[in-house]
Amino acid sequence: MATEEQTQAQGSDGAGGSGADTLSITDNRTGRSYEVEITDDTIKAMDLRQIKVNEDDFGMMAYDPAYTNTASCRSSITYIDGEAGILQHRGYPIEQLCEKSTYLEVAYLLVFGELPTKSQLDRWVFDVTHHTFVHEDMKAFFQGFRHDAHPMGILLAGVGAMSTFYPHAKEIDDEEERYMAAIRMIAKMPTLAAFAYRHSLGLPYVYPDNDHSYAGNFLAMMKKMTEVKYEPDPRLERALDVLFILHADHEQNCSTAAVRAVGSSQVDPYSAVAAGVAALYGPLHGGANEAVLRMLRRIETVENIPDFLQGVKDKEEKLMGFGHRVYKNYDPRARIIKKHVDEVLEVTGDNPLLDIATELEKRALDDDYFTERKLYPNVDFYSGLIYEALGIPSDMFTVIFAIPRTSGWVAQWMEMNGDSEQKIARPRQIYTGECDRDYISIGDREGPEKITGPPARRPVKARRGA
Ligand code: ACO
Repeated sequence: MATEEQTQAQGSDGAGGSGADTLSITDNRTGRSYEVEITDDTIKAMDLRQIKVNEDDFGMMAYDPAYTNTASCRSSITYIDGEAGILQHRGYPIEQLCEKSTYLEVAYLLVFGELPTKSQLDRWVFDVTHHTFVHEDMKAFFQGFRHDAHPMGILLAGVGAMSTFYPHAKEIDDEEERYMAAIRMIAKMPTLAAFAYRHSLGLPYVYPDNDHSYAGNFLAMMKKMTEVKYEPDPRLERALDVLFILHADHEQNCSTAAVRAVGSSQVDPYSAVAAGVAALYGPLHGGANEAVLRMLRRIETVENIPDFLQGVKDKEEKLMGFGHRVYKNYDPRARIIKKHVDEVLEVTGDNPLLDIATELEKRALDDDYFTERKLYPNVDFYSGLIYEALGIPSDMFTVIFAIPRTSGWVAQWMEMNGDSEQKIARPRQIYTGECDRDYISIGDREGPEKITGPPARRPVKARRGA
């Protein structure tokens, strides 16, 4: 970045640009101008640091709470064009992957970057299938949870606990250890998820069955009762596999960012992925499909839809399963799920909520309020209906999201580890608290009798700290 003593900004109206891949910035406090390199439509935040008023200042930072306009990494795993409604993994459109691939093949693609050859896929599927069992001590660990423990809380603890069962996983520079950690996490996540579910019902755990596919095995571990062998309906098995493909990765979302941030400390990958599970647990991330079902039940009949939509437009409530931070068009995952809802209901029987959902979508898409704000159905609008049709209770929805997202977390963790530009994640802050106060003896302090908690979002003059 070059610095020039100048008093005027150049090219402020865009006309007369020089064509150089740089950004000129004029600091009106000092009149100095700076030229910052532009790569991939992006400037480096560190290039701002040399913008100072005084030589001993810390230098300018970029302020971006929630990272709404900050790229934290370079990634070649998942591409999203939110305006056009495009989602691709390693360059392959999600529509083609859902139609032609399987979840385990997509997991391989995410982790290794290419579609596997026949022998690579056979080895990958074999390895995953033969690592689905969890250590027997894990069962004792699970039994310590209350009967009503949320299965996502159990899964979170289970994934964290796995790091203690595989202590060599902390050798993150060892290629074989990384491979085994990837295999183990992808293989064992359905087992942990099904155990968490069975625990909440007080039912005995069902061990994995190598005869089944990845999705079929998960259904069997959830559903098997007294029958000698559980045979999943192939149509339901395929629908679940497609849902797994659709949830496998979604670039730098909240949980993936959590995995990368925690993993950047060079902790073992199980602990990093546990951070991803924790982030996904939150209702703003993994829990919206459950809210869609609650909303559809509350609407109750198609006749009540106009009143409901009026309530949304009056900002009394939200149309759950609509809108997305990135997609300003129809979420391509929603389009694919919608197709599978009918197939699943053919097997499981009609669900009156589908009629409400279909009519609700139609009316919202015909309404200027939603189209003007680019509000379209997202992945969660229809996924809850499929899970419900599969007989899965709503507190398991987020757990089922975590199963396939594990391959995305693992792929992103591996990519981060191989990226020489990455360091331990450590954001900066704008300090807004007090400074340089003298300690007050306890007898001289004043304040209310009752502790009310720290004041929230108190606007205080900002101070810069190093
Ligand atoms: N229903 C009604 N109005 C909405 C909705 C909605 N679902 N979503 C956004 N809007 C409105 C906002 O009120 C705002 O209107 P305004 O301009 O009159 O103030 C406008 O659309 C823009 O909304 P933002 O809040 O700026 O959009 P943002 O990108 O911050 O929010 C989010 C995205 C959180 C997903 C939001 O659309 C939402 O809450 N949707 C419902 C919850 C949901 O379905 N979440 C699942 C997302 S997919 C996933 O996480 C796997």
